[in-house]
Amino acid sequence: MIAPGPRGSFLLGSLPDAQRDPIGMFQRAFNDYGDVVRLRFGYLTAHLISSPAGVNHVLAENNKNYGKQTRGFKNLRRVMGNGLLTAEGDFWKKQRRLAQPAFHRQKIAGFAESMLRAAGRCAERLAAARAPVDVAAEMMRVTLEIVGETLLGTQVAGDTDRVQSVVGDLLRAANQRMTRFIDLPPPLPTRSNLRLRGWLRVLDEIVLRIIAERRKAPGDDLISMLLVARDEETGQTMTDGQLRDEAMTIFLAGHETTANTLTWTWLLLSRYPAAARALRAELGNTPITAADLPRLPLLKMLIEESMRLYPPAWLIARSATGADEIDGYEIPAQSLVFVSPYIVHRSPRLWRDPEGFDPERFAQAPPRGTYFPFGGGPRQCIGNGFAMMEAQLVLATLAQKFALELVPGHPVALEPSITLRPRHGMRMSVRPA
Ligand code: HEM
Repeated sequence: MIAPGPRGSFLLGSLPDAQRDPIGMFQRAFNDYGDVVRLRFGYLTAHLISSPAGVNHVLAENNKNYGKQTRGFKNLRRVMGNGLLTAEGDFWKKQRRLAQPAFHRQKIAGFAESMLRAAGRCAERLAAARAPVDVAAEMMRVTLEIVGETLLGTQVAGDTDRVQSVVGDLLRAANQRMTRFIDLPPPLPTRSNLRLRGWLRVLDEIVLRIIAERRKAPGDDLISMLLVARDEETGQTMTDGQLRDEAMTIFLAGHETTANTLTWTWLLLSRYPAAARALRAELGNTPITAADLPRLPLLKMLIEESMRLYPPAWLIARSATGADEIDGYEIPAQSLVFVSPYIVHRSPRLWRDPEGFDPERFAQAPPRGTYFPFGGGPRQCIGNGFAMMEAQLVLATLAQKFALELVPGHPVALEPSITLRPRHGMRMSVRPA
């Protein structure tokens, strides 16, 4: 059976709608046609899958049929190379096995100090602010400092500053490319391609130098952990080139997502002052450490509810290798398949009061396929535990000290690029808690 869906424009199908307002386009498709919608983007056929069983089918059960040969991942490959997020097949499997121990709960616990230090520096900046601040920019800075320090180590302060500014530029460029209609092929010496190449050269040089230093004298940073990781079957370790790709991937995948989650959480706390008060009551006044997290359920549920309403990875794209069937509908070989945490997390068929804010709903774990901010199946986010600890520690440290309030009249709008960010930043006034 062919799935129902909008016809869109004669030549381009739903492409013009997707360019104008991607979330609106997917939302209307879901509202009008249901859990499996057939879409056309120019000559490409795509399906939006929103049933829990369908989501589970694509990400987990039949994940082998759903690869990453999409335009978005091709763009990411130019920056991240063949790292964990973009790699496929046996190579991905080997890299994931090598990297997994570095993300083990006990290893991540060692990064708590870095996270708390970065949160402390942010608190100093907020305390010194004499006017409203852009909380989105502040959260970006904290998470970039954290990923820089945990990945590269603390001994490279000068480099970390430079890396951070270049990574920021790169991410902006990558985000812009995603929203453009066609990509200019990379070899063309356009201004933006030349700039991209320049930034990549700077980063490559720094990252490769740090790798060389760590090979001589390992630290307790992620690079040092990845460097010694040895494949049990073959006894091989990663080459400098592979390490470079993994470092770029972690840098880029590992900070904007968490920054956005924190920013959206501040917005929700400003809109729901009772939740902010309850959070401060839970946190008390003594400085929070990682050991406190298990006894702070509201802190965790607030972040979970924030990622339900504003999932940073709002769209997960795949390309079907072979033909398949989902919920009784045909999925042609080589067609695109989308699952959207944003759409599924707000489905009225799955959630009571889906647009409402209710952290307590996470007192029980949601059923499979209804909540997947970190994706699912074998390609699930490797930084899941890292991100949760980071978001909890930063939010707790700052919420103990400050109440952030949205500046009246500040426009809040979604910018669905690679990640779901606030289009106009998040201007908030800072008051002592
Ligand atoms: C709130 C924060 C985060 C969110 C919402 C998030 C979300 C995701 C999602 C949805 C995927 C799967 C993508 C797909 O299936 O196509 C993913 C993969 C990945 N994420 Fe995260 N992420 C977050 C933080 C992090 C952090 C902190 C790191 C690293 C320190 C990280 C590193 C990665 C990597 C390496 C992958 C690829 C994993 C693989 O395919 O083996 N992420 N992330």
